[in-house]
Amino acid sequence: MERDPDILAEDTFLEIAMETKEKEMLAGLMATQKYLPCKFFYDETGSKLFEQITRLEEYYPSRTEKSILKQNSGELMQGADGTTLVELGSGDCSKISILLQSLCREKLKTSTYVPIDVSLSAVEESRCKLQDRFGAIEVCGIVADFMQQIHLVSQHENRIFCFFGSTIGNLDRRDAFRFVAKLGKLIKRGERLLLGLDMVKDKLVLERAYNDEKGITAKFNKNILNVTNKILRTDFEPEYFRHHAFYDDDEQRIEMHLVAMRDMIVKSPFFEGVLEISKGQTIHTENSHKFTSHHIDEFASVSGLSVRSVYADSNRWFTLTDYIK
Ligand code: SAH
Ligand code: AVI
Repeated sequence: MERDPDILAEDTFLEIAMETKEKEMLAGLMATQKYLPCKFFYDETGSKLFEQITRLEEYYPSRTEKSILKQNSGELMQGADGTTLVELGSGDCSKISILLQSLCREKLKTSTYVPIDVSLSAVEESRCKLQDRFGAIEVCGIVADFMQQIHLVSQHENRIFCFFGSTIGNLDRRDAFRFVAKLGKLIKRGERLLLGLDMVKDKLVLERAYNDEKGITAKFNKNILNVTNKILRTDFEPEYFRHHAFYDDDEQRIEMHLVAMRDMIVKSPFFEGVLEISKGQTIHTENSHKFTSHHIDEFASVSGLSVRSVYADSNRWFTLTDYIK
């Protein structure tokens, strides 16, 4: 992923280099409670591991949101003509495909899909998959951090912003509200935001979703150290870390950590000296906040958007809110 900033690889494909990624990783590793920003999970291996997670029996959010999309795609896409679907953190584009399926060829011809993702492989593969399947649609992929580069979608009009998967839950609460407020400013009258949220529920269900039997989530978690080794040229040995995921009732979030199983010394040309990590010390790799109806209304009030409809599964484990300006 080492490319010049702002290069136009093709007319339909824009890649933005994340110049600050080394700084962001270093800040986390130097902090007292060590952390790594969770967007660094998603190199090619991480994106593939996440796709495996979405197929796990324990990981209910993906299949639940997909079932909500399938059931309501006609209503969600009603009137969509000449629309730009902007998807934040688009991943394998399987969710947008459900919505596109409900559009006829004529409508697809006038539609544009703009996936924004930090994962180059995810954006590239999405473009191929969608053009194979829905040849008529124009795809303008952007490889960028949506937190920093969301203004890149300003050139498009008549947009529906799609933020699926409860990826917004991976932001800290305050950042999530700030980000939705920023989206609210960007969204013009008549444009919409479809926001997928994983809801607060039984702790056992939640903890099971992040501690699967096959250990795929553990692999996904440890892969962030391989990404760190590539970016910071560190010598982390992921096999000496243990995956730890638990639900914090007060914060209403799953926390994922990597626990050092022995004392270790980590080197990098970016460090002054070495990084010492002692047995039992953790690197906090992800928060996955869960939501309530109160949050759905709060997002509306900070963004100036109105709630058109809230769709949910029968357990109300997952919601998809259709906001409009
Ligand atoms: N929306 C998909 C994928 C969710 S996984 C689904 O619901 O299945 C989260 C996705 O967001 C990954 O593809 C990851 O690469 C991307 N992502 C995470 N943080 C990001 C950020 N700050 N900017 C852009 N993409 C991000
Ligand atoms: C992308 N994101 C919403 C997932 C989540 O559930 O927080 C990432 C994930 N982490 C572990 N499993 C899945």
